[in-house]
Amino acid sequence: MSKKSNILNPQIINIETGLETHKLDTIKKFPVKANLANYQPLYDTFNYDKSLSDEIIYYADGSLNVAYNAIDRHLVNGRKNKVAIYAIDNSLAVKKYTYNDLFILSNQAANALVKLGVKKGDRVFIFLPRIIETYVITLALARIGAIAGPLFSAFGPDALKDRLLDSGAKVIVTDTNLKPRLESIKKNLPDLESIVVVGGKTAELDKNEYAYAEIISNQPKTFNNCHLKPEDPLYMLYTSGTTGKPKGVVHVQNDLKCQHMTTKWVLDLQEDDIYWCTADPGWVTGMVYGIYGPLSNGASVVCFEPGFNAKAWFKVLEDLQVTVWYTSPTALRMLMKEGFNLVKEYNLNALRHILSVGEPLNPEVIRWGMEVFNLPIHDNWWQTETGSQMISNLPCLPIKLGSMGKPLPGIYAAIVDDEGNELEPGQIGKLVLKPGWPSMFNSLWRDVERYDEYFKIKNWYFTGDNAWKDTDGYFWFIGRSDDVINTSGHRVGPFEVESALLEHEYIVEAGVIGIPDEERGEIIKAFIVLKDGISESEEVLKDIKDFIKKQLAFHAYPRLIEVRDKLPKTRSGKIMRRLLKAQELGLPQGDLTGLDD
Ligand code: PRX
Repeated sequence: MSKKSNILNPQIINIETGLETHKLDTIKKFPVKANLANYQPLYDTFNYDKSLSDEIIYYADGSLNVAYNAIDRHLVNGRKNKVAIYAIDNSLAVKKYTYNDLFILSNQAANALVKLGVKKGDRVFIFLPRIIETYVITLALARIGAIAGPLFSAFGPDALKDRLLDSGAKVIVTDTNLKPRLESIKKNLPDLESIVVVGGKTAELDKNEYAYAEIISNQPKTFNNCHLKPEDPLYMLYTSGTTGKPKGVVHVQNDLKCQHMTTKWVLDLQEDDIYWCTADPGWVTGMVYGIYGPLSNGASVVCFEPGFNAKAWFKVLEDLQVTVWYTSPTALRMLMKEGFNLVKEYNLNALRHILSVGEPLNPEVIRWGMEVFNLPIHDNWWQTETGSQMISNLPCLPIKLGSMGKPLPGIYAAIVDDEGNELEPGQIGKLVLKPGWPSMFNSLWRDVERYDEYFKIKNWYFTGDNAWKDTDGYFWFIGRSDDVINTSGHRVGPFEVESALLEHEYIVEAGVIGIPDEERGEIIKAFIVLKDGISESEEVLKDIKDFIKKQLAFHAYPRLIEVRDKLPKTRSGKIMRRLLKAQELGLPQGDLTGLDD
């Protein structure tokens, strides 16, 4: 049988009986510890309010504190001296932090932040690489009830300014390497009161800037956790849509229910696991499944500072004997590019459960995983807005290659037409969810109208994705139904890139689309019109790319730029990205009646 599968002809891996391309005796038969018998609905079906909460500790008055659940409770349940975090720095040195260490550090940080004036509801942004302080600050903010705002360390001044200004950030925590990117914008942030600098020294800092080590060193090692209502905000994360600047997706304390339960059931974390989530805490996966969920479950978590490097990644998997590994299709494809030889140099026998999220996981990658890790890779689907995994290949279920899996117990997902009518299995349509699960985003920061937009058709939550469902209830991803670009698993809004391009002195018009790429899922292509008197040259294009990398974000720069005399626009002057994409990919151009010619 051909190894190639496609969406209409899925091949099936059954982890109990083996894949037809692999000999049964070479496959680890029961690589995961969870089994079907243990599954209860995660959330009472369609009665989300009564969802399981006995795993989360609430105070008698119904309030809770996420830091209490993620750290403090483990000091009295036998995990006080268990390693909470293995922090690996750029030289690959490993430092261990126990739950007791994390308790002390996050209490000291909370006291220091309160001394700076941080209160419940204040927005504090974390602009740090993957280091222990990222965890400590996130949890210190949870103690106070302040809203944590993660920022991806690849952001440049423009991306930072949009987010910090819109949210009214009061404090930013950064480090000496990243701080220069705040220099040009800090004077334009009227709500900003302080910048805390990890690795900084007071003598080298400006007024209202504080050296992290100095401000926490003499702080008390205990802190009175704030008792928070389930609906009080926990964190906010800016994410991109088709139109406008990124929007602040607000999540609440009660998200912890879903974070905890899905970490337990989907990631299958057990007491003796060593768990590595490779996602950056500047994005939702790194926050939810790198910090809140696994710590709430009392797990030992790997925090890996360096960027991608195949040898270093395999070495970490081997040296730390990682057992559960949550990563992305792009990372797996990059590892796959190394072929079979490199991976064979490492002993990865400890691995027992692998998961992936953020983009479509190609069947080829799952086959490669079966070959080199002797394990299937479990794809799952969710979004910044959903706050936790929604559709998943649960460890106990047979995997269909290329499918995102099934909705988690208690989550209702459907495929509908534009009017919100459910479609038959096999028909491609819009992926929607029945709203109300505990980790559903509770608002968009100061933008009620845009929030309501998500739910306006028959009260479904519209995800922005197109997909289809098969007769067994498995969901299959097709693509975005809007113009949002997914490059290496990073969600990029074309409007953000176009706005940044227009800030370049040579550009008068810009239209941005995503085009398919084997390794990165999509890459960004920009169509631009140059100012009179500027002609296309290699230097001009390089200058534009560098400008975006520096101003906006490294990952958001257009790898391809095409210069045109004019761009297709509607009569109201909107660039027709749909048409640019159709032209680029040789697809039918559709209805052109709105085109301004
Ligand atoms: O298009 C879907 C894609 O990533 C989008 C969500 O991006 P973000 O909010 O940044 O969160 C990413 C990590 C949770 C979705 O609308 N996506 C996510 N998971 C998958 C996926 N596309 C295909 N397959 C997936 N498993």
